[in-house]
Amino acid sequence: MKHYILALDQGTTSSRAIVFDHAGHICGSAATEYPQHFPHPGWVEHDPQDIWRSQLEVARQVLRDNHIDPRQILAIGIANQRETTMVWDRATGEPIAPAIVWQDRRTADTCDALRAAGKDRVIKAATGLELDAYFSATKLKWLLDHVPGARDRARRGELAFGTIDSWLAFQLTGRHVTDVGNASRTMLFNIHLLRWDSDMLALFDIPEELLPQVVSSSEEIGTTRPELFGVPIPVAGIAGDQQAATFGQACLQPGMAKNTYGTGCFMLMHLGRHPVASHNRLLTTVGWRVDGETDYLMEGSVFMGGATVQWLRDGLGLIRQSSEVEALAASVPDSGGVFLVPAFVGLGAPHWDPYARGALVGLSRGSHRGHIARAALEAIAYQSAELMIAMQRDVAASHRDFTLTEVRADGGAARNDLLMQFQADLLGVPVVRPQVTETTALGAAYLAGLAVGYWDSREEVAAQWACERRFEPAMGDDQRQALLATWGRAVARSRDWHR
Ligand code: G3P
Repeated sequence: MKHYILALDQGTTSSRAIVFDHAGHICGSAATEYPQHFPHPGWVEHDPQDIWRSQLEVARQVLRDNHIDPRQILAIGIANQRETTMVWDRATGEPIAPAIVWQDRRTADTCDALRAAGKDRVIKAATGLELDAYFSATKLKWLLDHVPGARDRARRGELAFGTIDSWLAFQLTGRHVTDVGNASRTMLFNIHLLRWDSDMLALFDIPEELLPQVVSSSEEIGTTRPELFGVPIPVAGIAGDQQAATFGQACLQPGMAKNTYGTGCFMLMHLGRHPVASHNRLLTTVGWRVDGETDYLMEGSVFMGGATVQWLRDGLGLIRQSSEVEALAASVPDSGGVFLVPAFVGLGAPHWDPYARGALVGLSRGSHRGHIARAALEAIAYQSAELMIAMQRDVAASHRDFTLTEVRADGGAARNDLLMQFQADLLGVPVVRPQVTETTALGAAYLAGLAVGYWDSREEVAAQWACERRFEPAMGDDQRQALLATWGRAVARSRDWHR
């Protein structure tokens, strides 16, 4: 009987399930979108039951469609949208409120008050994170402050907090756990001591009784309830989706980096076994713990990546399908001086401005839809370039013995050759696209497969990585510097707009 690993990739807009074989090849996949809720400007919510039901549905579907018996699945790995925050009743499993999604800005004022009180430095020192509404802590505090009786019930141990990995693991196995990488995104976890931080819990008024047990990213945490797949299947890997993609891209040595062009853009660089503090407003975060060893990453997160193209489609009606953007952008030789700053939900790294809003500048009478499409694509590359510049500065200041020499690309928009070439031009280092671009699911599969002995070592999985296309930088230094400077002026116009 041939064996496989099943990866569950629970993302911000879709739930996906992908089956991998021993060669790391995709043997089947299923995906479905699920509803997004925007109850107020700046708020983004998910129904936790939609998340679970859609995830279970695609997991069953991929097995059914590909005639794979659940007994052929040696293990399940989970990759998840990170930071998204929810609380449920331990006894009934019922969520006490909708999940507050990572993009949700409702707690920006809580962050302002903490910053005014000078708390940002202690938060960064303990958690490696910038004080921002992006992370779970202020979202969890908001739930405890606003759902009647929640904090008292939490103190009595009746409630469970979790990010989406915890919710899926709980539904699958009944256990209340999170992996060390996901924990590091909550702003409640000390990345040096690798445990929940009592100072952070006190700062955000979070009862310890709420918290999940922190586990490794690659270990068997339990088996699925028999009624789900007919047979119990080990759940053996958990990682936040960006951590999983970094693992799936085999960025397992210091200085190796990947950029995922999904809803947002997430550039992560491997740091080795010791954290490096960023002085350029990037995040230091835990990657994964495998075989008792913890790897650290440096991360730059941009909130609007591929979602900028969705906005061209749904907001402006400039294109009917996202895939049309490349041809429209290629219909002009350049953006004609037009710059789009897609700060629709504020700006993430390295600006961290929740009050920034989108800006379209440099328009002239000759500007048309081709220029706007091109400016939208270029905006994705400019934002990623800002991350890389910050990362290179941090690497140089760290006096650590590695350099950032190429970036591995994945995610939907990485299929866009025009974007990839412009990205390489702006970065000044090659951008490399792998053969398997479902790297998030692949990383989760690797973590689960390593735990159950399907693969033997990290070296074995790293050797499976193969290049599909390499984009070499072709732009002169002067032109690159001039473009980045103009981008900087456009960003300045979008800053602090919505206060
Ligand atoms: O930090 C948020 C990130 O994990 C979301 O990823 O792929 O769902 O947009 P994605």
